[in-house]
Amino acid sequence: MPQLPLHHVFHPAHADHYAATLGEGLDHLLRQLKGVAGPATGLTPAAAQQRVAAVDLDSPLDDAGQVLAEMSQLWLDDAVWFHEPSYAAHLNCPVVVPALLAELFVASVNSSLDTFDQSVGGTFIERRLIDWTAQRIGFGEDADGVFTSGGSQSNLQGLLLARGRHERVPAERLRILASAESHFSVQKSARLLGLGDESVVSVPTDERHRMDPAALERSLAACTDLGLRPMAIVATAGTTDFGAIDPLEQVADLAVAYDAWFHVDAAYGGGLLVSPTRRDRLRGIERADSVTIDFHKTFFQPVSSSAIVVRDRATLRPATWHADYLNPREATNPNQVDKSLQTTRRFDALKLWVTLRTMGPDLVGQYVDAVIDLACAVHDAQREQAELDFAAAPELSTLVFRYVPPGPPLAEKESAALNNAIREALYASGRAMVAATKVDGVQHLKLTLLNPMATLEDITGVLDLVRTTGARLAAEHRRPALEAAR
Ligand SMILES: Cc1ncc(COP(=O)(O)O)c(C=O)c1O
Repeated sequence: MPQLPLHHVFHPAHADHYAATLGEGLDHLLRQLKGVAGPATGLTPAAAQQRVAAVDLDSPLDDAGQVLAEMSQLWLDDAVWFHEPSYAAHLNCPVVVPALLAELFVASVNSSLDTFDQSVGGTFIERRLIDWTAQRIGFGEDADGVFTSGGSQSNLQGLLLARGRHERVPAERLRILASAESHFSVQKSARLLGLGDESVVSVPTDERHRMDPAALERSLAACTDLGLRPMAIVATAGTTDFGAIDPLEQVADLAVAYDAWFHVDAAYGGGLLVSPTRRDRLRGIERADSVTIDFHKTFFQPVSSSAIVVRDRATLRPATWHADYLNPREATNPNQVDKSLQTTRRFDALKLWVTLRTMGPDLVGQYVDAVIDLACAVHDAQREQAELDFAAAPELSTLVFRYVPPGPPLAEKESAALNNAIREALYASGRAMVAATKVDGVQHLKLTLLNPMATLEDITGVLDLVRTTGARLAAEHRRPALEAAR
């Protein structure tokens, strides 16, 4: 029998190989990191796809060096870097080093958090972090929860638990009330739960993009008048576009009045739990039945790291299933799978644990404050600029605006095309990245600031690029029109 080359297996006998491989990987990563000159290189989807498609997956390379070189060519050389201060597009944070230290252990040891007998202390580390988060929320002794893969899964689980209270009510009679600016995972969850798209009632928002409680009350009353059952109200604590925080206390009152499950999607705003100066903005969150917190947004954790936290552990029951091979009914071990939608599950909690044990919560909260302060400072400095039309003052750390060229006003279609073209041109230049969204159907650009190292000068620089790129594109666009008119 030929000897199998087993050195690839993580094992004490292969410690030297492991150390050498990871060492080579770390050197490679640091070399790349030091060579980063902007948030992106502007590679097109076609070029990226072509490179990847050209790889023969059935012909392995000889060594880690070659694999790393190929990986760089396929991905890393043109990666989008969230630590770059001119990256201001989506809700991606730069990650903190203690979490990366933990990630090495998470991946290498590969504990699975579904059962105690696959994770031992890991189960209790996760439980302590859930208790800690619950305490920060203001929940009592009965609170519980579990880490999830992200805000979408946390929202799904929150709504599953809400559905669990109405097992006998036919799906077509159940309604979920969420603001018109809530995250789309609410709609997706309704679909996944078999409730249908029409089960989500979109509640209008006020001028600051927060759920309008009077409109919520009207929607709730209309539901009951029609014989429908308001199953859950989802309040968003930090909407994706505007960072708006719904009026949690008023929503809580209405949830009680209509006996509806109260879920708070704090995927984005959850970082306020550790903010030394802005924790009060979440007042009322402690009245929720379930809360989504994304540590991979405002706790500067690598993806994935999220949690669903509930006020009363008994409500987690719809997620429980006993399997003879894993967590039999008679099991006495603490098994986290009893509360989770996943079975095999990463020990993501370790990243947050090592982060808190290294930095402490206050420093994480100061990072959160820094990005909110930055958004406010940018808005203060730029809001009078004629060429930038801001849709709102920042609530958290996003800025939504349009570039408006000097001269005769553009039709909406032209303005949308111009703003989209600015975004694409910035990506293509590799110098800055901004996002796009629509406000009442009108195309806008968006900055999401989650980098505590970014400065006012950095973001002013991004907006200067928006202006100069916009002016150039508008001039190019107008030239043919002027020539035609001549
Ligand atoms: C308010 C809100 N909720 C939920 C989510 C979904 O989170 P995830 O991308 O981690 O699934 C997002 C993502 O941006 C969000 O902004």
